[in-house]
Amino acid sequence: MKISVIGCGYLGAVHASAMAELGHEVVGIDVDEEKIGQLRAGKAPFFEPGLTEVLSSALASGRLTFTTDIAHAAGAQVHFVAVGTPQARDSQAADLSYVDAAVTSLLPHLGAGDLVVGKSTVPVGTAARLAGVVAEHAPDAMLAWNPEFLREGFAVRDTIDPDRLVYGVADDRATAMLDEVYAQTISNGTPRVVTDYATAELVKVAANAFLATKISFINAMAEIAEVTGADVTQLADAIGHDTRIGRRFLNAGVGFGGGCLPKDIRAFVARAEELGRGESVAFLKEVDAINMRRRDRVADLAIEALGGSPFGHKVAVLGVTFKPHSDDVRDSPALDVAVRLKGLGADVVVTDPEGLDNARGRHPQLLYTEMTEEALRFADLAVLVTEWPEYTALDPKAVAGLMRTPRIIDARNVLDPAAWREAGFAYSGLGRN
Ligand code: UDX
Repeated sequence: MKISVIGCGYLGAVHASAMAELGHEVVGIDVDEEKIGQLRAGKAPFFEPGLTEVLSSALASGRLTFTTDIAHAAGAQVHFVAVGTPQARDSQAADLSYVDAAVTSLLPHLGAGDLVVGKSTVPVGTAARLAGVVAEHAPDAMLAWNPEFLREGFAVRDTIDPDRLVYGVADDRATAMLDEVYAQTISNGTPRVVTDYATAELVKVAANAFLATKISFINAMAEIAEVTGADVTQLADAIGHDTRIGRRFLNAGVGFGGGCLPKDIRAFVARAEELGRGESVAFLKEVDAINMRRRDRVADLAIEALGGSPFGHKVAVLGVTFKPHSDDVRDSPALDVAVRLKGLGADVVVTDPEGLDNARGRHPQLLYTEMTEEALRFADLAVLVTEWPEYTALDPKAVAGLMRTPRIIDARNVLDPAAWREAGFAYSGLGRN
């Protein structure tokens, strides 16, 4: 099929490449000339394992092109809208200006029978509103909402081989066209759920709300463990054996961040309040509050470890991205912790395998190094905030030899406390006595 993908960020660049990989003829469109230049040259504009390979092979096949000119969407039958829906500057709601602009800019280029497919995460009701806009200006075109569930770090795999496909449609012809787009994925056995617009929009925010709730649940247990001497990781292992609960997403630590979970739960609360059903998801405010308290807890542990004041002490912050295998620092708990410690007067040195450029752009006041050893050398405290494999594999004896004082806060509960204590460390985890 001929496909256009509007928006070439974390979602769209991967989607465009993956659609070409599935055999379609794809044009990726973005207003950012620098990003389009990089993509044309086969360079991923952000770190995502496997993306460079898929991008290069799709470009070489001639099936994938990139442009800043929306007019090149003309001729495609399916137009994916994959632009961002960040948190609005002045409220908790989602900023839909990019989605609205993308759909508006597409309208003059839509042909009869074309399908506009929303992939961005939007407040429930958006698809119905945009279907009205499409119907008014391009009466022979259709609209579907096909939410994306990809995880950064696994984005290529999650796009080509997702857990499920969800189509929010108002027309059987839209279902047939999406089946053609995803023919290979469906033939591999991926389940597909066909719904109305509102259900498809809600599936996405409900999934993210559930995941955020699961993480905050275990972090709430960590808070209780901290005042009772219990160990939250053992607790998670024990309850996780119950297959109704499951062990995944029960890792207590500094909490969730990134470009999705935090803003999606806030936007869900804002939308529910608009709909007069704020009380139904009011618990998500508590989920958010528990999550933010974990950052306070790490800062408090650092103050305690440094004898009451971090002022003048060197602190090595290991990791700055919101999770490993990503360069994304949007709403990163790790970056937040680094900024807080700097605000408390510590000499903070941040290291990370992929996230330094993005972090430096946001917080130039922090010191950054690519060398883990340099960050740790003569440090009074190390704080492991993002569980990159290179940090979880650190040898405590070697680290003790580098630091001025062997103290570590394991804010992801990924280190073996006994091994670190044996190497002379004062070790603290979260919710682990
Ligand atoms: C998430 C959803 O998983 C994905 O389906 C959706 O499409 C977009 O949002 P992503 O933001 O890439 O994906 O990250 P995810 O792997 O879900 O992790 C989110 C955050 O939760 C990270 O900061 C991670 O460190 C944290 N987390 C995850 C925990 O703190 N504990 C856990 O047990 C799991």
